[in-house]
Amino acid sequence: MEVFKRKILQRVLVNDIPLSLPLLTALVEPESQTQLIETLNDIIPHNPYYARMVLKKVIDSIEQHLDPTELDFDIGEYYNLYVPLLSAIPLSADEPEPIQYSLTLTSPGLTVAETPRLLNGAGTTGRRTWAACLYLSECLVYRFPEFLDGEQKNQIKVLELGAGTGVLSLTLLKNFKDQLAKVYMTDGDSKVFEQTRDNFQNNGVDTNDDRVQMMELWWGETTESAVPECDLVVAADVTYDSAFLSDLATTLAVAINKGAIGLVAATVRNEATVKEFENELDQRGLRWEIWQSEAHPGERNKDDALVFFNKNSPEIRVYRIYQ
Ligand SMILES: C[S@@+](CC[C@H](N)C(=O)[O-])C[C@H]1O[C@@H](n2cnc3c(N)ncnc32)[C@H](O)[C@@H]1O
Repeated sequence: MEVFKRKILQRVLVNDIPLSLPLLTALVEPESQTQLIETLNDIIPHNPYYARMVLKKVIDSIEQHLDPTELDFDIGEYYNLYVPLLSAIPLSADEPEPIQYSLTLTSPGLTVAETPRLLNGAGTTGRRTWAACLYLSECLVYRFPEFLDGEQKNQIKVLELGAGTGVLSLTLLKNFKDQLAKVYMTDGDSKVFEQTRDNFQNNGVDTNDDRVQMMELWWGETTESAVPECDLVVAADVTYDSAFLSDLATTLAVAINKGAIGLVAATVRNEATVKEFENELDQRGLRWEIWQSEAHPGERNKDDALVFFNKNSPEIRVYRIYQ
């Protein structure tokens, strides 16, 4: 039930949410009905259509697989919630809604206003959170301490490139605030910062804190001095367009040659493009390895995995890049 709840709060595609028998049996219990109705009541003001689709699937599946005379249940409350939603229509692609992510069982949840149905809006792909970003955020919740160097360095500076909704920086600030001397959250398109500033504040991160700096940084067009010195440079889903790979690698090289280690999460939509990225790193004398990867993110079956990916999501790789 808990996993089901988290999936709908993350707006996983309804078709990608299996409703198997143990879950259906739980969903007819009065306590679970109350929980699901409460969760849907949180979603309805923002996206009634999604709530309608979830309820339709729940009701249809229960009717198909369970017999009320045998199990003695009543799902009248689901119908009561469903009927007024029958006229709900899908949100337009550019209408933002709050999406909730739970990265791990123990890390704080994040609520991020974004447009998950939009691929490219207002000239940027940064108005939604991409799978590679969620994957790297999850990895960092577990593995960020690897980048702290005991007593020598118990506070580090992080630079994020192509941050978009800012979930990567937000994850670090929520989970490792005391270990961060500075977070530079950057993107080439300064329009994303309006949304990101609100997202940070809604998640209790003070954007006036000296440690947090949002700044425009356009790869390639930036002078060396504009790339801040840092210990760790992170980026997610920035390797999708061959036209930018050379500029991206140049900016990464500047940061890494100033002493940073790079972590870049790439969704392997096209093997050739990712290979081009690797070649750009090689040409600049940067060394790299695959630090962590997930071949079929939509099929992983780990009890503690709370970030959900679309069923057919391609492989995600995180490159560790160093001098
Ligand atoms: C696919 S989005 C990824 C956003 C975020 N990292 C995520 O994974 O959810 C790519 C981001 O890179 C930014 N971007 C694209 N080209 C850029 C460039 N040449 N310089 C700086 N940022 C760029 C876009 O504005 C966008 O926010």
